[in-house]
Amino acid sequence: MIKLLILGPTGIMGKLISELALKDEEIEVVAACDVNNIGEELGGLLAVKDRNKIKISDVNYLQKVIDETKPDVAVDFTVAKATEKNCKICVENRIKCVIGTTAMTQDFLDEVEKLVTTKKAPAVISPNMAPGVNILFKMASILTKYLNDWDIEVIEVHHHRKIDSPSGTALKIGQILSDTLGSEFEEIAKFGRNKGPNKRLIGAKNEIGIHSIRAGDIIGDHIILYAGPGERIELKHQAHSRSCFATGAIKAIKFIVQAKENKIYTTNEVLGL
Ligand SMILES: NC(=O)c1ccc[n+]([C@@H]2O[C@H](COP(=O)([O-])OP(=O)(O)OC[C@H]3O[C@@H](n4cnc5c(N)ncnc54)[C@H](O)[C@@H]3O)[C@@H](O)[C@H]2O)c1
Repeated sequence: MIKLLILGPTGIMGKLISELALKDEEIEVVAACDVNNIGEELGGLLAVKDRNKIKISDVNYLQKVIDETKPDVAVDFTVAKATEKNCKICVENRIKCVIGTTAMTQDFLDEVEKLVTTKKAPAVISPNMAPGVNILFKMASILTKYLNDWDIEVIEVHHHRKIDSPSGTALKIGQILSDTLGSEFEEIAKFGRNKGPNKRLIGAKNEIGIHSIRAGDIIGDHIILYAGPGERIELKHQAHSRSCFATGAIKAIKFIVQAKENKIYTTNEVLGL
């Protein structure tokens, strides 16, 4: 049985992951920490049977919770600031982390990369755990090799509650495109185009446009537009339910307990792509 700590179980993603985890025969939820609903029963909150009758603990006492419940894996879909603090505590305690939170700082990512090696506690960090999106990443890297002289633009569409823009997934797509092109992403990325003269630099090696749309309750669309002389190709992924991310997180939890190398894994590796 995998002993699981859930960080942020009251959030939209946290609830979905908690529900799948509580129903999974290979997983035992041993703790759940949040800033909200402290003291409430997790199973009651989700209307799901929980044989351990786990109560939501105050995340400010995370170290005490870890000492008492000794989890093997922590899953975190919360907010960047919280993840940066809590997942560091988890890795320091040699707990393997599955991190889905987006918009963490590069400093944190660099620090956690070193920490997983020294503490021998591998982690999965992935801005998008949906299997289909990760197949899109793979297709984009292949297509970009053939279309490297075309213009490439990335368009992402999300619900109006989303805090960060562009999405972590759009940034990851931009990184994959520029790695394939042999360009520096930060040098060629053009984040939106404002009113006024704004001519595009021709060719993806010179410029990749990244555009964010926020509207209603759209779960998440990513389009990669390849446009050449007289023709175009679009790669498009649309999430119509958040269950694809939660399923991906559960796969990552089962993967990370068996991971051999003390490093940060991506969903590509979880899925063997
Ligand atoms: N990687 C993926 O596949 C994927 C998919 C969807 C969303 N996300 C990301 O996951 C994150 C959460 O998304 P959401 O839609 O569930 O958000 P949400 O606002 O519904 O949930 C956030 C949760 O974090 C909790 N929280 C806040 N501070 C905390 C702290 N200090 N300690 C513990 N918990 C704390 C909140 O109480 C809440 O339960 C975002 O960063 C989002 O971009 C990633």
